[in-house]
Amino acid sequence: MEARFGNIEVIISEEQISKRVAEIAAEISKDFAGEEVMLVGILKGAVIFMADIARRLTVPATMDFMAVSSYGSATKSSGAVQIIKDIEVSIEGKNLIVVEDIVDSGLTLKYLLENLWSRGPANVKTCVLLDKPETRVVEVPIDYKGFEIPNKFAVGYGLDYDQKYRNLPYVGALKRV
Ligand code: IMP
Ligand code: MG
Repeated sequence: MEARFGNIEVIISEEQISKRVAEIAAEISKDFAGEEVMLVGILKGAVIFMADIARRLTVPATMDFMAVSSYGSATKSSGAVQIIKDIEVSIEGKNLIVVEDIVDSGLTLKYLLENLWSRGPANVKTCVLLDKPETRVVEVPIDYKGFEIPNKFAVGYGLDYDQKYRNLPYVGALKRV
């Protein structure tokens, strides 16, 4: 498919995403059959992925969100993580599924997992749309993974560059110009 912008090449199509989303949602539904899950989306990148996953789950699910600062508008990780918006309810005894757009260095997810585990949930799983293994700095568990991508800057389907392109229905890579 032709990208809407000349500076973006499509790397994962809308069709590939919806197929994978259905598979992941089926897996989560199977793993948590008879239980309830709480989806914790990391704003803003995970919003579209989480909305699509949520609608395909066959187990009861609640939804909450966290926001962290890690990137600003640059394309390189600073390593510093700060919680800007927290979950609004107690997570004690709950089955959490942290939904994240992409794991790059792994620093954000590692920090979030340590923080969430300290609050006494029953379980914390991770569900990540994109994995960039080449740039990993710290090990983090990815329980449900959409796609592995090479070390390119990804945009679309929730991911931004300087807050733009989040609403593209596919995942694209910014072409270097
Ligand atoms: P990490 O802490 O380095 O793993 O970075 C995680 C966060 O950086 C993600 O949640 C994204 O917000 C952002 N990020 C990392 N790589 C990309 C990318 O290729 N495109 C858009 N955002 C990215
Ligand atoms: Mg993010």
